[in-house]
Amino acid sequence: MNAVAEPLQAAASGAAAPPILSVRNIEVVYDHVILVLRGVSFEVPQGGIVALLGANGAGKSTTLKSVSTLLASERGAVTKGSIELRGQRIDKLAPGDLVGMGMVQVMEGRHCFGHLSVEDNLITGAYTRPISGAQVRDALERVYTYFPRLKTRRTSLAGYTSGGEQQMVAIGRAMMAKPSMLLLDEPSMGLAPQIVAEIFEIVRDLNKKEGVSILLAEQNTNVALKYADYGYILESGRIMMDGPAKALAENKDVKEFYLGLSSEGRKSFRDMKSYRRRKRWL
Ligand SMILES: Nc1ncnc2c1ncn2[C@@H]1O[C@H](COP(=O)(O)OP(=O)(O)OP(=O)(O)O)[C@@H](O)[C@H]1O
Ligand SMILES: [Mg+2]
Repeated sequence: MNAVAEPLQAAASGAAAPPILSVRNIEVVYDHVILVLRGVSFEVPQGGIVALLGANGAGKSTTLKSVSTLLASERGAVTKGSIELRGQRIDKLAPGDLVGMGMVQVMEGRHCFGHLSVEDNLITGAYTRPISGAQVRDALERVYTYFPRLKTRRTSLAGYTSGGEQQMVAIGRAMMAKPSMLLLDEPSMGLAPQIVAEIFEIVRDLNKKEGVSILLAEQNTNVALKYADYGYILESGRIMMDGPAKALAENKDVKEFYLGLSSEGRKSFRDMKSYRRRKRWL
């Protein structure tokens, strides 16, 4: 692994707190034979925003689903390594147990119940825990303070709202379960830059004000590195590079391959290495 700098050891407090999520050396196989992740290790510090970056098919969603134990429903399994949430092994638990432990995933593709109102969609997120009507109202108001747009659209059918609003519904619904850790899979997918920025500002607010730790999978390297503290770059199921978001954003290879600042279009780190290797022999 090519580390740009030492991993962040702690959140903004500066205290050397143990990470909220720790993934060590996992291997993931689909259908018993298709090896998709190899030796993937990373951590999310308490109160941090960590981005998993990479192109189509790199393994970002697979990594998130390994953490949220949603792989089984896709005939996938973690066959090596370990995943710990606050020091407790979670890789053998059921997805419902994890919600109880404060971890909620927002899936790729902003799944909403199109035939329900925005507000009813949000309310479905509250019933992952025993909760009274008054607590549901409180949780709703809290979500509306972060997503004022959803308050104005609360009686609209979710199916008729914009893509950006549906992504907000999906994140707002996850927040109704009062998570301490959110897994977000490609929140920027298919959205205009302005709405992407609006959503990421809200995500940062949730992180700062509610103290929610965030693990984010994104193809949009530029926006992810702007909002994350730390990033890992996946390629073909392996972590090729990691470092503080600022260092990655300034890294020459990241600029060339992922920030579209190359004249030759996007290449792979692997090509680069073999190219350099070849060059040394010339
Ligand atoms: N259920 C599955 N069965 C078999 N192979 C799968 C399955 N899901 C994903 N894969 C394969 O695993 C690899 C990683 O896919 P994954 O969806 O994790 O990538 P990703 O980085 O999230 O990509 P994208 O940016 O397109 O969402 C791909 O080669 C994909 O074809
Ligand atoms: Mg994906």
